[in-house]
Order: sequence, then structure tokens, then C-alpha cells
Amino acid sequence: MAVKHIGIIMNGVTGRMGTNQHLIRSIVAIREQGGVALPNGDVIIPDPILVGRNEAKLQALVEKHNLKRWSTSLDDCLNDPYNEIYFDSQTTVRRAEAIRKAIQAGKQIYCEKPTASNLEESLELAQLAYEAGIKNGVVQDKLFLPGLLKLKRLVDSGFFGQILSVQMEFGYWVFEGDWQPAQRPSWNYREEDGGGIIVDMFAHWRYVLDNLFGEVKSVSCIGKTHIPKRVDENNKPYICTADDAAYATFELEGGIIAQVNSSWTTRVNREDLLVIHVDGTEGSAVAGLRECKIQHRVSTPKPVWNPDIPNPLPFQEQWQEVPGNQEYDNGFKIQWELFLKHVAADEPFPWTLLEGAKGTQLSELGLQSWKERRWIDIPELSLGVKKSGKIVNASK
Ligand SMILES: NC(=O)c1ccc[n+]([C@@H]2O[C@H](COP(=O)([O-])OP(=O)(O)OC[C@H]3O[C@@H](n4cnc5c(N)ncnc54)[C@H](O)[C@@H]3O)[C@@H](O)[C@H]2O)c1
Repeated sequence: MAVKHIGIIMNGVTGRMGTNQHLIRSIVAIREQGGVALPNGDVIIPDPILVGRNEAKLQALVEKHNLKRWSTSLDDCLNDPYNEIYFDSQTTVRRAEAIRKAIQAGKQIYCEKPTASNLEESLELAQLAYEAGIKNGVVQDKLFLPGLLKLKRLVDSGFFGQILSVQMEFGYWVFEGDWQPAQRPSWNYREEDGGGIIVDMFAHWRYVLDNLFGEVKSVSCIGKTHIPKRVDENNKPYICTADDAAYATFELEGGIIAQVNSSWTTRVNREDLLVIHVDGTEGSAVAGLRECKIQHRVSTPKPVWNPDIPNPLPFQEQWQEVPGNQEYDNGFKIQWELFLKHVAADEPFPWTLLEGAKGTQLSELGLQSWKERRWIDIPELSLGVKKSGKIVNASK
């Protein structure tokens, strides 16, 4: 058994996602468990170098997590052949430029979603990676949540019969920052900084819907900036230029209708921050982030509309929990392990920059639908023929 260290440049690691999900819960956790085992018995140990602007923050992170390497020079990190992977969880608008550089330096690419703030750039990155022949991947963490894995199991088992519709409720109240600090960064509420719930969440909804229920074929969306003014991290008021709620309907392959509400301006009265309700001819399911419950055709009650009497049916109690039947690890960590195996042992990894571009495409068309107040069909995306530096036949 050989042990191989693999150098990973981690950029944006002082941020919310970078620190918590990618560094602590993924890379540090993988190191603490002794690495990732490959099919041939070899083990890979990720060896991160943390990159950013703030020396003190980087140093503190490195010390706290028993690491050694940090740098304020991305170029130096890219020039070092020991670093095989470039990872990016910077704010969205900064990502494309850094990834272009990393592709040019021959690094394998893994990054947060959205891969860029517009489709043209997202596709360009996918094309550049393809032409350079490097491995690439995008975070699609929701696919690895226990609740969604249980839903996928139900879909694969044929439990639903024909799937008719999907309703998704996502959101919670994000404080305005005046009398309680906001729990999301202020750039999320400024369009010019890559913010907006449509750009943020449709990147998730695309892969969730595509992977669980069927490809998204068309979109109708209305967005809204419900809270026009917020207070930022430095206690300064600012004008919100980006949408903080989106009310969308998607048509999926096979005629499935998905209604999806995304909001940072709603108070939660449901079982989880994301709830997915699926109705099929043979059964229905309701999934949260971790749990999932079902009601089969044979155990479906028969309500009769009668507001003159108190409701006689305990609807919430008439569902059955789907058992876990396995241990569920952190979704970000699972995907990191799969990417590391992809890089080191050529294991499959279907969540590529092209898949990421599909997310950006859905956001862009959602915004267009809102602006033009109409349904929009979603063109198929594909990469062009290899021809260095140029995108040929990017969409058809
Ligand atoms: N997968 C998910 O569920 C999920 C959830 C939230 C955010 N995200 C995505 O992750 C990314 C980061 O989001 P976040 O909430 O962690 O944001 P954040 O603001 O907390 O972190 C942003 C990072 O970018 C760095 N950065 C910002 N401006 C910079 C500059 N001028 N120069 C150098 N570095 C700079 C910051 O130092 C920080 O490390 C975004 O693209 C966001 O869309 C993904």
C-alpha cells in the first residue's frame, strides 16, 4: 500500500463555505480519518495550501487545523507542480478569472457553484477545461443529503409510479443586519457583486431536478427584492440590488411540473429549510435535508371537503418514515472524496464544469423569464469541438 500526498490550492477558504464545509468538514476531516482509500489499496492524503489576502486569517486557520501551508500569492501556488488541484470557493464574480489561470497552469479544477456569474463564462470554463484535458468538477452538495438520497432511492425503486409533480419550498428569514447581524454575506444582496437568490439557488435546483426527476425543459419565474435596504458586515446600510425571493415553475422531461419557491424573506413553518414534496400515481413523498416520509396509494386517506366540522383526519400522522439503512457522511466531504478518487484513480465523476454551466444557464433563463414575463425553453448545452481557446457550437 502506497501513501500519496496530493497538493490542493484552496482559494476562498477564509469564507463561510470555504472554512466550514470545504476545509473543516471535508479536507481536514479526510486527513483526520487517514485519507481516502483507492481501489488498488493505495491511500491519498489531501495536502492543502490555503490562499487568500489576509495573512493573519490564513495563519490562524492553518494553526487551528494542524496544517502547514498557506500563501498570499496564487501565482506562486499555481507555479508549484506539487499542487495538482485548484479549488475555488471565492465569491462567484471572482471565480472565472482564477479558474482560467489554474487551467492554464494545468491544474485539475474543483469549485463551488455557480461556476461563474453568467452562462458565457461558465461555458467558457467548461470548454477550456475540456480542451486542456484536465479533470474538473463542481460542488453539487444537495445530491448527497440524506433526505435527497432517500428520495433518489424511492425514484429508482419505482415507488412513485408516474411522477406527476414536485413542490419545493426553500428558505428562511435572513436578518436585515440592523438589529441582529445577517446570517449571510452582504454581497448576496447586490447584483453587481454576483448576488441574488436566483443566481444562487437555481444553480442547485438545476442539478437536483435533473438528477432526481428529469431534465429541466422550461422555466417561468418571477423574482422580487422584498427587502430593499440592509445593513452590511461593517454596520453600514446598503441598497439591495438583487432578488431575495423567487417564485418559479419548471417543466421537466416527461411532463413533470415542479413548483419551486426560494426565499430569504420567509419565516419557517415546515419541517426543514428545504422541503421537497413529490406526488406520483402510486405514492407520494416529502423529504427534508435528512428525513423522508412516504404515503403509498394503499394507505392514502379519503378527505371530503367540509369546513363546517373540525378536520377529522390527522394528515401529518398518516405518513411513514423511510429508514436510513446506512451511515450518512457530510455531503461536501463525500463529493470531495469522489473527486480525489477521480483525480488519483480515474474513478467516474459526472458533476463537471459543463454540469455546472447548466446551473448558470437556468439562473440566467430564470432572470430572463422574470424580466420578459414569459415562459422560456431551455436549450441543450454541449461543448464544442476541441479547437484551442474557442467555443464552437456551444449550445444547440
Ligand atoms: N454549495 C452551497 O450550498 C453554497 C452555499 C453558499 C454559498 N455557496 C457559494 O460559495 C461561494 C462563497 O460563498 P460564501 O457564502 O462562502 O461567501 P463569503 O463571502 O463568506 O466568502 C468569500 C471568499 O472569497 C474571498 N474574497 C472575496 N473578495 C475577495 C477579493 N477581492 N480578493 C480575494 N478574495 C476575496 C473572501 O476572502 C472569502 O474567502 C459563492 O460562490 C457562493 O455562491 C455555495
